[in-house]
Order: sequence, then structure tokens, then C-alpha cells
Amino acid sequence: IKFVCYSNDGDDQHMIWLVGLKNIFSRQLPNMPKDYIVRLVMDRSHKSMMIVKHNQVIGGITYRPYPSQKFGEIAFCAITADEQVKGFGTRLMNHLKKYARDEDGLTHFLTYADNNAVGYFSKQGFTKEIFLDKEIWHGYIKDYDGGTLMECRIDPILPYID
Ligand code: ACO
Repeated sequence: IKFVCYSNDGDDQHMIWLVGLKNIFSRQLPNMPKDYIVRLVMDRSHKSMMIVKHNQVIGGITYRPYPSQKFGEIAFCAITADEQVKGFGTRLMNHLKKYARDEDGLTHFLTYADNNAVGYFSKQGFTKEIFLDKEIWHGYIKDYDGGTLMECRIDPILPYID
């Protein structure tokens, strides 16, 4: 098992993994339009933290870092059906927090959580209360009706992964 984070950077292997992740999102997030998923996963300003097992992607998180604002917006998060509830979702989020802090310089994540995923995000440290000043994120993330806006502060010193 490995955790890798890439954008659509023209590398063939990265593209193959991003297509695998896009397919998992399409299946696991049936209410999201497929063309919207493709557009964001392949957008060069988005990055995806992916779990690769036997060279196959089994899950990931696609996010857009806003380095000037020091926050990232999580667009999609999913684990393939037969690998859910084995702890991969938690390990994935911990790898993302470490990477976003150490490589992107982020201090927070925001996401619109699907109602059935609020429990998962709560266990990953996300709250429905938004502590970040609205000035910081207003105009960067779009209002969206189909979910609950949640925030997570990234700890500046926690190791997050072993
Ligand atoms: N509701 C409540 N708690 C949950 C949920 C849920 N839907 N999913 C997982 N949990 C809990 C688990 O019970 C576990 O708790 P524990 O640590 O006390 O045992 C903890 O969250 C972490 O469980 P993992 O095994 O790490 O989670 P998993 O690998 O299954 O990944 C995920 C969670 C990503 C939500 C996965 O179940 C999935 O892909 N679901 C379908 C797609 C989805 O809903 N994605 C989020 C949409 S919102 C968005 O993308 C912005």
C-alpha cells in the first residue's frame, strides 16, 4: 500500500491513477454529475491524495489548495466499496493533512460534506462550526446546497502518520 498525491501533470502513470480515482468517485458519489467529477479531478489546480494497492487506486481525496488563504477545499472523498470500513478513510485523511501542511502550507480544510458523510468527517476532526473568518474563504469556495459546510484545523506539529 502506498499513498501518493498528484495533480494532472502530464505523467502517464499519474493520469492512469487519476482515471481510477475518478471511476471510484463516479460510483460512490452517484448524486454528483460525472462530467463535474472528471472536470475537477483532471483540473490542474486540484490535487488528489490516492491510496494505491497492487498498483490499483482504491480510494482518494481530491482537493483544491488555496495557498494564499492557507486553506484547502475538499471536493470529493471516497474509498472503493470492498475496501470501506477497514480504516483506509482515516489513514487517507491523515496523509492528506500531513501533505497539505508540509507541502502546500495549509492550516485548514473546508468541505461540503454529504449528509451521510458528516459522521466520517466528524471523526476526522471536522466541525460544523466554522472558525475561519469568512473573509478568508468567501469568494473562494462556492455556496452549495447539497451538503453541510465543515471545517478542520490542521495541527502544526502532530506527525499524523507513523
Ligand atoms: N457515517 C458515520 N461514520 C462513518 C461513516 C459514515 N458514513 N463512514 C465511516 N465512518 C466511521 C467509521 O465507523 C470509523 O469510525 P471508528 O474509527 O470509530 O471505527 C471512521 O469513520 C473511519 O472509518 P474508515 O474505515 O476509515 O472509513 P472508510 O475507509 O470506510 O472511508 C468514506 C469513509 C470515505 C466515507 C467511505 O465510507 C466512502 O467512500 N463512502 C462513500 C462515499 C462518500 O460518502 N464520500 C464522502 C462524500 S462527501 C465529500 O466527498 C466531500
